[in-house]
Amino acid sequence: MAQRETWATRTGFILAAVGSAVGLGNIWRFPFITADGGGAAFLVVYLLFVAFIGFPAILVEFVVGRRTERNPVGALLELGGNAWKYVGGVFIVTGFVILSYYSVVAGWFIRYFFEGFRGSYADRLATHGGEAGAMFGEVSTGMDAFVLHTVFMAVTIGVVALGIRRGIEVATKAMVPAIVVLLAGLAVWAFTLSGSGAGYEYYLSPDFSTITSNWTNLLPAAAGQAFFTLSLGMGVMITYASYLGEDRNLTKDAATIIGFDTGIAFLTGLVVFPIFFAAGITDPGEGGPGAIFVSMTQAFADLSGGRLLGLLFFGTVAIAALSSAISLLEVVTAYVIDEKGVERWKAALGMGGVIYLLGIPVTYDLIFLDLLDLFADGILLVFGALVLMLLVGWVAPQFAVEELSKGIGDLGSLGQAWIWAVRVPIIAVLAVSLYLGIVDYV
Ligand code: PFF
Ligand code: NA
Repeated sequence: MAQRETWATRTGFILAAVGSAVGLGNIWRFPFITADGGGAAFLVVYLLFVAFIGFPAILVEFVVGRRTERNPVGALLELGGNAWKYVGGVFIVTGFVILSYYSVVAGWFIRYFFEGFRGSYADRLATHGGEAGAMFGEVSTGMDAFVLHTVFMAVTIGVVALGIRRGIEVATKAMVPAIVVLLAGLAVWAFTLSGSGAGYEYYLSPDFSTITSNWTNLLPAAAGQAFFTLSLGMGVMITYASYLGEDRNLTKDAATIIGFDTGIAFLTGLVVFPIFFAAGITDPGEGGPGAIFVSMTQAFADLSGGRLLGLLFFGTVAIAALSSAISLLEVVTAYVIDEKGVERWKAALGMGGVIYLLGIPVTYDLIFLDLLDLFADGILLVFGALVLMLLVGWVAPQFAVEELSKGIGDLGSLGQAWIWAVRVPIIAVLAVSLYLGIVDYV
């Protein structure tokens, strides 16, 4: 068997993991799911979820990957035995479903990027009656959406087929700071808009009675968003950690990834909600999956230098989406390569091709986006995370604390605290979230 690849540089792993985490989940999904959950009430539950479940969960994926040095399906097989292999198969299905619509949404960002080449965003808006919502409605489905979905999937397949991870690592290095600077600048500008105050109220001032009365909706929504945004629950972090040496401090890496990811999502909210309220939109939930496009086109139309900023913003997010999409296709491809002995380019093309076909209906009608997104996030990802917790918490716990301590030193009682958090409270919360997610869906 060929020597298994490892990360070319010390920072390769962290760059790829951050590249996978930071993407449409932060910029596109976070604002509209937050709006769906009523704003600040959702934000609170989501942040708790990231800290108390996302953080232990990412460590679980890391130790599984580093210990087994295998793709997620092979890793479950090795740790749990034959029956768990089939559960691992769910990861592959999840990857299929998520990437199929992820690519369509990424295509929208490419579309809005090109709009900036055709004219100012104010002019582009004018061709749609000056209405950002109408513009989104017209460009989000149809021939152009189909073509851009095709382009995005082709690039994703190309990168994974050629195995050119280095280029993506470099792109991530530039992309993350660029997104932070752009969002921070936009957030400052949004702050100056008259009427934006109500946006902060909506986003940052939780009404705790809504949380308690609405927790059956908030819990599965927060679970799905937390796992989606951190790329958890389908083996991406298992796969990336499987190429890893033993000297890395996984806890520190987890904190870095979560810090960037959560920070960028939070900043996005600080841009979107003030802009909405300043524009007189008092129910941000109306925007749905178009929320980010509606608020941003409005902003870039009003802002001096908006055309350049828009090009930068939509272009950077498209690149962020690419590094996430690559991680999705990489899991699926690595599985076929490792377990079926197929050549890399054939695996990437075959799997990518099927995913591409699955995404096509979304370019016809956004109803399919809803169906696929809620199924993948609210059910499949939570299921995948729950299964991993059961495996590492109960079935094969012996290796976990020892593996985590490599590159750190003796964990003392913290290691035990981590494993016990996984064993009881986290598993309980995930089981309830999964149940509620299923009830919600059907
Ligand atoms: N974390 C990515 C984002 O926030 O856009 C999306 C994603 C990538 C989800 C990889 C799941 C995954 F396995
Ligand atoms: Na993310």
